[in-house]
This record gives sequence, structure tokens and C-alpha cells, in this order.
Amino acid sequence: MTPGSFITLEGIEGAGKSTLAAALTVMLERRGVDIVRTREPGGTPLAERVRAVVLEPGAEALTPVAEMLLMFAARRIHLDNLVRPALARGACVICDRFTDATRAYQGAGRGVAMQLIDHLASLVHDGLQPSATVLLDLPVADGLARARARRGEPDRFEVEETAFFERVRACYLELAHAEPERFIVLDARRPPQELADEAANALLARLSG
Ligand code: TMP
Repeated sequence: MTPGSFITLEGIEGAGKSTLAAALTVMLERRGVDIVRTREPGGTPLAERVRAVVLEPGAEALTPVAEMLLMFAARRIHLDNLVRPALARGACVICDRFTDATRAYQGAGRGVAMQLIDHLASLVHDGLQPSATVLLDLPVADGLARARARRGEPDRFEVEETAFFERVRACYLELAHAEPERFIVLDARRPPQELADEAANALLARLSG
């Protein structure tokens, strides 16, 4: 795999991104690829503190724009302190969620203008774009059933109604449709090992040479 590849994983809650990230890491490391596995929001100690603020259900309102700004603040900390240094030394970064999640959740889900998100993305990314994005797609009811079965207290997103996640899922599919050269879309209802094999093969095919 080309050194310095930046791979992002996306999908609604319960899609299996964490399981896929773990399996991909093992499979690619076996092939000698230097992998840094991380997530958003979070990924560094400071960005994880922003994550806690944005996910914790609290009494004080967090408006959609404020929520988006926190996502981008965490992202810039993560890019500056972890992602860019890793890519610069030639590692491949596997990141559980990135700016497509902001488009899907804050844009389609909460109604923040996509233009504003794109504007902040260009500022915060400073030229960096994912080399490839794996979208784990599944019906909202299946994802929510999986997510609710495994978690204790729901976070600020998990309490949202089904219609919110339908908008999130539809937005992800639109993004994938608009950029087929970047996205690899997989049916997340398939067995985890099968998904990992297919994702690894697709990534190696696209990001080698
Ligand atoms: P996770 O459960 O996959 O770790 O993600 C935490 C939540 O954060 C998830 O509900 C999606 C949400 N999120 C956004 O709303 N916008 C973003 O930009 C990111 C990265 C995550």
C-alpha cells in the first residue's frame, strides 16, 4: 500500500466500523504496512476531551453549529498532532470517521448548511483529503438494534429518532455516489470477516503502486 495513505471508515451507529478497523489493521500489518489506527472525534488526549464534551448528554444546549465547530476543532487538533505526523513518516492512517460524518450528521442530520461545512473543511483540512473511504451501509433499524444492544447510556446522537439516522444514511450514500473513485461501499449486514477481506482487497487494489 502506498505509504502515507489516509483511509477513513464511515457508517451509521452499529455498522461495525470499529470491528472493521481492528480487522483491517491486523490484515494490513501482516503485509508489512505501518498502520496508525485512530478515530474521530478524538484520537489524541486533547481531542478526546472535546469528544467527551460533544457526546455527553447535558443540560446545556449545544446548537448544531456549535456541535459542528467542536467536531472541526477536535479534527484540527487530531490532524496537527497525530494524523499529519503519521502520514509524513510514511504510515497509513485508518481513521474511524472523518468529515463525511460532519456532512452526514451535522449537515443532513441537524440541518447545518453544507456550504458552511465545506468551507470549514477546506480551512481545517488544509489540503488533506482521504485517499479512500469505506462506507459500511445497512438499514437504520439494523444498525440501531445492534448499537442499542451493546451500549449502556446512550450518547447525544444515540437518543435521536429513526428519521435522523435515515437522513444520515441517505447523505452517506449520496456522498459515495458523487465520489465513486474515493468510496468503497459495502453491505454491513455481511459477516465481519468477509467485509474485512473485501475492504482490504479493495484498498490494496486502489492504493498500491
Ligand atoms: P462513534 O460512535 O462512531 O465513535 O461516533 C461518535 C458519534 O459522533 C457518532 O454518533 C457520530 C458523531 N459524529 C458527528 O456527528 N460528526 C462528526 O464529524 C464525527 C466525526 C462524529
